[in-house]
This record gives sequence, C-alpha cells and structure tokens, in this order.
Amino acid sequence: MSALVDKLKALQAEAEAKLSGLSTTAETEAWFRDFLGRKGALTNALQGIGQMPTEERPLVGKVANEVKVALTAALEARQATIADAEMEAALSAEGIDVTLPGRPQNVGKIHPSNAALRDINAIFTQMGFQVYDAPEVETDEMNFELLNMPDGHPARDMWDTFYTTTPGVLLRTHTSPGQIHAMREYCPEPIRVVLPGKCFRYEDVTARSEMMFHQVEGLVVGPNITFSDLKGTVVAFANQMFGEGRKLRFRKSYFPFTEPSVEVDVDCVLCGGKGCRVCKYTGWLEIMGAGMVNPMVLANGGYDPAVFSGYAFGMGVERSAMLKLGVDDIRYFFSNDVRFLERVGA
Ligand code: DAH
Repeated sequence: MSALVDKLKALQAEAEAKLSGLSTTAETEAWFRDFLGRKGALTNALQGIGQMPTEERPLVGKVANEVKVALTAALEARQATIADAEMEAALSAEGIDVTLPGRPQNVGKIHPSNAALRDINAIFTQMGFQVYDAPEVETDEMNFELLNMPDGHPARDMWDTFYTTTPGVLLRTHTSPGQIHAMREYCPEPIRVVLPGKCFRYEDVTARSEMMFHQVEGLVVGPNITFSDLKGTVVAFANQMFGEGRKLRFRKSYFPFTEPSVEVDVDCVLCGGKGCRVCKYTGWLEIMGAGMVNPMVLANGGYDPAVFSGYAFGMGVERSAMLKLGVDDIRYFFSNDVRFLERVGA
C-alpha cells in the first residue's frame, strides 16, 4: 500500500469528521472548497501521483475516486439535513398565519342594461312568458314587410335603418321582427313570449337616443286575447319594475303592425312629474309602444285572424333602466365610463 493511499484515507476521515459538525449551508460551501474544490485538499494530495511508480497509479486513482464519491454523497446528505432544519427555523420564525383573509379580487358588476334586461325577463317569466331569442341581422321582409310595411310605406320613415351591402339584409331596427319568427315557430299553438335584444338605428345620438340599444318585445297570441289583457299585464309589469303606485298613461298612437296602437308612459321619476330634460318637460317618460296585433301580421305568422287575436308591446330597456336608476342621459350606458358602471351596475 502506498503512502498516498493512506493519506487519502486519512483525508476522508478528517473531511467526514468536520462535515458532521457543520450546521449552516454557508459552512458546507466552505467545506466543499476546502476538500473537494479545484484547489482543495483532495486535488492537492493527488499532485504527487506523477512521481509514483507506474504500477501503483491505478490503485491510487481508484481510491481517490472512491473518496471523492463518498465525500460528495456525504456532503449532499448533510446539506439536505441542514436545508430541512433551516426551513423549519424560518417557518417558525416567520409564523405564517393560514387563517388570515386573502387579498380581495376586484369583481366587476353587471352592466345596467343587462341588469334591467334580467329584471324585465324575470318579471315576465314569472307571469308565464317564455324568453325567445331572435336574430339581430334581419331581412327587409322580416323587419318591415311582414309587419305590414311594404316597400315604400311611409311608416318605414319611423326607423332610420342600417342596411348591409347585401341587398335586402339589414340590422333590425326593433325587436318586432322576432314576432314573426315566434309565430311561425309556434303556430298553431297559443303564444306568450318576450323577445329581448339589441336594435340598431342610424340616427343622431342624444340624451334620449343611441344608435344601438336594447328592447324587449312582448307577444301574446291566443283565442279571445283582448286589450284588457294588454293593459293588465303592462300595469302589473310597471308596478314590479318601477315600484307600486307609479302612474301610467296610455296614449293613442300608430304602428303598422298593431291596431289599435298605444304608447305607454310612466310618470318621470327623475323630476317627480314636474318636468325635466329627460322627460322633455312633460312629466312623462315613454316606456313602450303596444297594441293589438294587426290581423295582417297574425296572418303572416300563420294564424287565422278570425280565430286568434293577440297583443304586442316593445319597450326600451335603457329607457326603463334610466327611470329606475335616475340616470338622465342614455349615452352613459355605452360610453364605457367605469365610474358610471361602478355606480349603477348591479
Ligand atoms: N317596434 C316599435 C318600435 O321599435 C315598438 C312597438 C310598438 C312594438 C308597438 C310593438 C308594438 O310590439 O305593438 O318603435
């Protein structure tokens, strides 16, 4: 056995003894430098290998390698033990309190238009109406013709229309074309539906009107449906939507798809009926158009007007929301001002 082998074994024993006394990661790093590093004791000890007889070199090399492997393994084991202890100490020093409340997330609000739509749908579904979905892109036939407004009919002027580049295709100006969809789907069954959704009109944006807004259409078709049914339903709705005891006013009006036709007003909550910018100083706010479904329209939907009658209404959702929330300008709804949405969102 060469002296060098003895030296290596002694080195190993020394290193292991020192290692077991270490207690911090920093100490183990210093230990690595001293024994296993490039300028450490093991490398140093092997510097004499060149002067050794050739036949002894393999044995020395083998032992040196064994020492290195053993010391490396011992170091790793020691470091793991120390890391555990250090973690333990840090945890008990910091004292994490898992019962502390988390940081609150900023939850958004429901847009006031959607909140009003939900309220309106809820009131009508509770009265036995179904919610029916109809397209926003419509044909001229659905939006006008089948609602008793043939090409060139002057009543078309009531709606400034966005046309698409496809002839005969437009953005619906009101939810009324949904009446035809519903009738054609349900005929000959009786109908009681509300049709909520977006409408589009190419007109000046003012405090009272937007180019895009929401309406809820209502349609009831059956034998013996009368104007009293319409009136009772609208009054029941208004009391739930705007509060008991609101004043309602039915004014005679004209729509090609209803006969007779009315417009329904609620007393202005903003000014208490005294008159303001929003109610155009009349004390009343119009919330819907309505009437008895014109026999031509019933027939276009597939119903025999001699057997069936019906009523319909179309109400502005933002108008209703403005009334309910006391908002005096419809433009707030779509200008994306977070302060507004925060204040009136649901
Ligand atoms: N479609 C009409 C509009 O947008 C509102 C309307 C009036 C709807 C009378 C109806 C109705 O269903 O019967 O101005």
